[in-house]
Amino acid sequence: MANIVSDKEVPVVSKPSTMKVSSGKGDMMNALVYHGAGKKAWEQTAKPVLLEPTDAVVRILKTTICGTDLHIMKGDLPEVKEGRILGHEGVGIIEEVGSSVSNFKKGDHVIISCVTSCGKCDFCKKGMYSHCEKGGWILGYMINGTQAEYVRIPYADNSLYAIPAGSDEEALVMLSDILPTGFECGVLNGQVKPGDTIAIVGAGPVGMAALLTSQFYTPAEIIVIDQDDNRLKVAKTFGATHIINSASENAVEKIMGLTNGRGVDTAIEAVGVAATFELCEAIIGAGGHIANIGVHGKPVTLHLETLWSRNISITTRLVDTVTTPMLFKTVQSKKIEPKKLITHRFKLDQMIEAYDTFEHAAKEKALKVILEN
Ligand SMILES: NC(=O)c1ccc[n+]([C@@H]2O[C@H](COP(=O)([O-])OP(=O)(O)OC[C@H]3O[C@@H](n4cnc5c(N)ncnc54)[C@H](O)[C@@H]3O)[C@@H](O)[C@H]2O)c1
Ligand SMILES: [Zn+2]
Ligand SMILES: [Zn+2]
Repeated sequence: MANIVSDKEVPVVSKPSTMKVSSGKGDMMNALVYHGAGKKAWEQTAKPVLLEPTDAVVRILKTTICGTDLHIMKGDLPEVKEGRILGHEGVGIIEEVGSSVSNFKKGDHVIISCVTSCGKCDFCKKGMYSHCEKGGWILGYMINGTQAEYVRIPYADNSLYAIPAGSDEEALVMLSDILPTGFECGVLNGQVKPGDTIAIVGAGPVGMAALLTSQFYTPAEIIVIDQDDNRLKVAKTFGATHIINSASENAVEKIMGLTNGRGVDTAIEAVGVAATFELCEAIIGAGGHIANIGVHGKPVTLHLETLWSRNISITTRLVDTVTTPMLFKTVQSKKIEPKKLITHRFKLDQMIEAYDTFEHAAKEKALKVILEN
């Protein structure tokens, strides 16, 4: 990942008076700290402080756990350093702002975007916030994240979204990552159109977000594939027209049967393992689009021996979160109701239990878990 910034926890002393150590209950807080593959702890650590005038420190009100955090815990993203606080989603209250933050002030309620963006560099100007030269996806990855009592948000003006009074803040947590991810990487890149037959492989929160937002475009058939019967059942209530458990059924045969041997117009990969990407390659119809969302830790075989002549496109994307303002309106107006994805609620200090629940989603019948401060 090229867009790496350092997270030296050293306040910049020469900056104006807002550059002071966060006040509140001392200089310590509790957070979920990554200690290498398979190891994590909810422990005391230093509370973040403003490092740049463009920073804000946010007190977390609600956060959650992403499939990507599970990839980090599995060791799929070895660039994550030991000692890193994980988490890239949440809503909170601004605790302090740097001197050049103009959109927000102490006390404002905000959605934290999983992608940090300066709004000024070439990539940001192109709407590719994910590759911001000074940011991108860094939160809970290259810098400390949101599974904590407080988090430092660089480029606060462009990386936070104001929450109007009276909003359902739980529902808005889904705007940090899963809704823009499912929509941008899956639905937009997959070019879903009215009347299409689409397949969504993976019925986790991200696959479900693709399922919800694909329906803006009224595809005729939405086939959802997973190995978790509970998640598949939920997918049906969210608009899936067909569900397939690929552990107990031959998904390729079933999809080919459903599409008269043609394959699907769009195949959205929302798992992040070789088997599910290869399933997308096997079910894509001529002229179709494979839209990869999953974070992959291992190589995948590209079957050009069958795909070279099929006029397909394959896209990859790190979510840009450029559609967050538009998705925000659809959530506020209840055109989509992502709150229904929440199955479990915990207190922030029950983080380890929440990870355990999300990791054993099939057994626990879990989708999105919410942790509340
Ligand atoms: N591209 C991006 O910007 C971006 C952003 C956020 C998340 N992601 C990625 O999206 C993916 C999904 O995230 P999530 O939070 O929904 O994760 P999740 O772990 O909750 O969901 C994954 C789902 O895949 C299913 N699954 C696992 N192996 C399978 C198989 N062989 N066949 C069929 N289904 C299988 C699981 O049962 C589960 O329901 C992850 O890889 C995550 O890292 C990517
Ligand atoms: Zn995520
Ligand atoms: Zn930028």
